[in-house]
Amino acid sequence: MKAVWYERNGPARDVLVHGEMPTPEPAAGEVLVRVHASGVNPSDWKTRGGSRPMAAARVIPHSDGAGVIEKLGAGVDAARLGQRVWIWNAQWKRPFGTAAEYVALPAAQAGAMPDSLSFEAGACLGIPALTALRAVTTDGGVAGQSVLVAGGAGAVGHYAIQFAKRLGAAQVLATVSSEAKAEQARGAGADAAIDYRREDVAARVRELTGGRGVDRVVEVDLSGNVGLLPAVLAPDGICVAYGSAEREVGVNFGPMILGGFAIRFFIVYELAAGPRAECEALLARFLAEGGLQHKVAVTMPLSECAAAHDLVQAGTVMGNVVLTVP
Ligand SMILES: NC(=O)c1ccc[n+]([C@@H]2O[C@H](COP(=O)([O-])OP(=O)(O)OC[C@H]3O[C@@H](n4cnc5c(N)ncnc54)[C@H](OP(=O)(O)O)[C@@H]3O)[C@@H](O)[C@H]2O)c1
Repeated sequence: MKAVWYERNGPARDVLVHGEMPTPEPAAGEVLVRVHASGVNPSDWKTRGGSRPMAAARVIPHSDGAGVIEKLGAGVDAARLGQRVWIWNAQWKRPFGTAAEYVALPAAQAGAMPDSLSFEAGACLGIPALTALRAVTTDGGVAGQSVLVAGGAGAVGHYAIQFAKRLGAAQVLATVSSEAKAEQARGAGADAAIDYRREDVAARVRELTGGRGVDRVVEVDLSGNVGLLPAVLAPDGICVAYGSAEREVGVNFGPMILGGFAIRFFIVYELAAGPRAECEALLARFLAEGGLQHKVAVTMPLSECAAAHDLVQAGTVMGNVVLTVP
């Protein structure tokens, strides 16, 4: 099969190789998926760059993808043959991800997707959509809440706005850095978009919430925005942090304790079975209902994996970068 791999950490163009590898066989309990689309997430370039130890001597990157089940390992329900699926955690604590024509992985890591959903959109679900779902369902969920989605035009943020609305948030605000991003956030359902580079975010949030602040912040950059929390959170509010530009984050203890605030950290790769099942069930419901917007910003062929990594790292794309695997 055609695949992209790396055998050492380093810059994308130095270490990513596009070539031929043996097609894997599904072990017991596994399915073999013919990959049609492979999603590229920030975590993929960070891992390739060396933020995590190599999972094996050779790694095929990318945890997200979508395709069709072509072969079943022993013990897998025969009805799954030919099923269109979206894939999660393909390259989390496993060497071979979705940047290949085929991936063999546990049957549970390939979720059924409706015929109406494109493979490109299916390749955005494992990390961006599930992260967004966890961010708006953890700690009691968003029903009736005022929610601020930081980075509302990002891959995760764009889903978070939509899910917060569908799950009954009373008000969804988003921060953005341009008018184009504001449009995208409002198009996803945000009641207002605040340009965090040009406006006083705290003052705008207070104004838009009648002085009360928001019940929940869905945070893309905790290190960049932690200082805002006391000014934007309502009493007993929570910040659900899924990203941070810096690894060390300083918290202003006084105003945080006086407000009774909480910070929830989570990583989608490590969702426990219960929350994962809850998020997958909600996603299946939303996909069946239809109308969900998936922002596939750029598609490129598998052979251009290195360019795709650099594009995601540059952070200039508004939405997801997806490799197509013809
Ligand atoms: N915990 C998890 O499980 C998990 C899952 C997925 C992603 N992540 C992490 O979350 C981050 C975002 O991932 P993504 O795929 O959504 O990336 P993305 O598509 O690049 O989106 C990031 C968005 O955040 C905005 N942004 C950046 N810094 C900001 C700040 N200080 N305040 C407000 N907005 C800001 C960016 O736009 P501007 O730069 O124009 O503002 C962009 O719209 C990455 O660090 C990723 O590693 C974590």
